[in-house]
Amino acid sequence: MTALARHVTTVAESTELSGSSASFAADVIAGLTATPKRLSPKYFYDRAGSELFERITELPEYYPTRTETGILTERARDIAKLIPEGAALIEFGSGSSTKTRIVLHETKSLAAYVPVDISAEFLSQQAGTLRADFPKIKMLPVAADFSEPFELPGAVQQLPRAGFFPGSTIGNFEPHEACAFLRHAARVLGHGAVLIVGVDLVKDTGVLQRAYNDKQGVTAAFNLNLLKRINSELGAKIDLDSFEHHAFFNRERSRIEMHLASLKRQRLKLGGECIDFRAGETIHTENSYKYTVESFGALARGAGFVQTAVWTDARSYFSVHVLTLREEPAPTRPRPDLAAVG
Ligand code: TRP
Repeated sequence: MTALARHVTTVAESTELSGSSASFAADVIAGLTATPKRLSPKYFYDRAGSELFERITELPEYYPTRTETGILTERARDIAKLIPEGAALIEFGSGSSTKTRIVLHETKSLAAYVPVDISAEFLSQQAGTLRADFPKIKMLPVAADFSEPFELPGAVQQLPRAGFFPGSTIGNFEPHEACAFLRHAARVLGHGAVLIVGVDLVKDTGVLQRAYNDKQGVTAAFNLNLLKRINSELGAKIDLDSFEHHAFFNRERSRIEMHLASLKRQRLKLGGECIDFRAGETIHTENSYKYTVESFGALARGAGFVQTAVWTDARSYFSVHVLTLREEPAPTRPRPDLAAVG
């Protein structure tokens, strides 16, 4: 830990910030003293952030949610056919389970649904309404970080398992992390596993950039909410008007990058220490990788899966993949052709 981070941790402890605030403080300090400056996207989702994110999914410019929902609705019966009889459906990062309902409606033989999400409160709320709507399916929520190893409920240990990972959340991982995630999912799902993944596709730069720069400024507010949290939870005094949301498509790396750009040269004080910004210097807050059907197929193969089915919408904006585990063991290292290339 740097002296600065230690100092902030001490400040956090002395003002009786909870343990989670202390690690938030330490992460913020570590990120803002790094070069280039960065903040972890995991801090986007406090209550205000989660509400802003819900609004993003409804924006006219934000095509992914609408397009994926369309594909799932149109292909629900085909998807259902690929899910083994009497299986448990395990969703990685379930949130409001809106898209899952489309699958649950069609997959009549499903024995159990296991939503895995970090927010225990949200989970138990959702499980209640899901139980009422799907009385024949066992609802077995697991409160856990879906990207880390977690225990499956005993009741599903003996069942065949299918995984569900919509929303192009896989695009928020670096490609090598996405590959590691797929291997982790393979371990959780076990032998004969089926994994349904939503993946956003490379497309016209204008369409991509508008999706992350909406006219109403909701995505900007979502991004700036990180700084708001640093002010309210860590007692910083960042002038929110001195930072601006920047999102652009980096075609070479095939990703949307989100940044917070300082509009002027300035010094932030955090835990009694100073963090200097040049005019125009940015804090990198998120990436959203865009794949082609082929580049995602290569990534999946590197993790030991085969693409059993792929569906896209008429404009090829978004894709839904059904991956199944190859019989032979996965190679231990990703091959060099796995980068997300456009
Ligand atoms: N995975 C989605 C995407 O990359 C949703 C998402 C994650 C998102 N972080 C975001 C959308 C930040 C807008 C801004 O598009």
